[in-house]
Amino acid sequence: MSDSTVNTDFFVIKAMEDGVNVIGLTRGNDTKFHHSEKLDKGEVMIAQFTEHTSAVKVRGKAFIQTSHGELVND
Ligand code: TRP
Repeated sequence: MSDSTVNTDFFVIKAMEDGVNVIGLTRGNDTKFHHSEKLDKGEVMIAQFTEHTSAVKVRGKAFIQTSHGELVND
């Protein structure tokens, strides 16, 4: 994927409880976990999809805001 096609949008994840996990999954043929970030209640992560990250898994109660909308993950 060329740099120009990498999404420049940011997404926001705000933890609504302690121990929320934000897990980054690799882009390409192999889909693997490459990073796990633990957020405590009130902590916010602001991130992008990149040439290394094509998907994100969120475990735990969090408020998620993207360009596609907002949701609460229960
Ligand atoms: N090194 C990772 C990357 O550039 C950092 C990262 C970006 C990330 N977006 C993420 C990690 C989302 C977890 C979730 O792709």
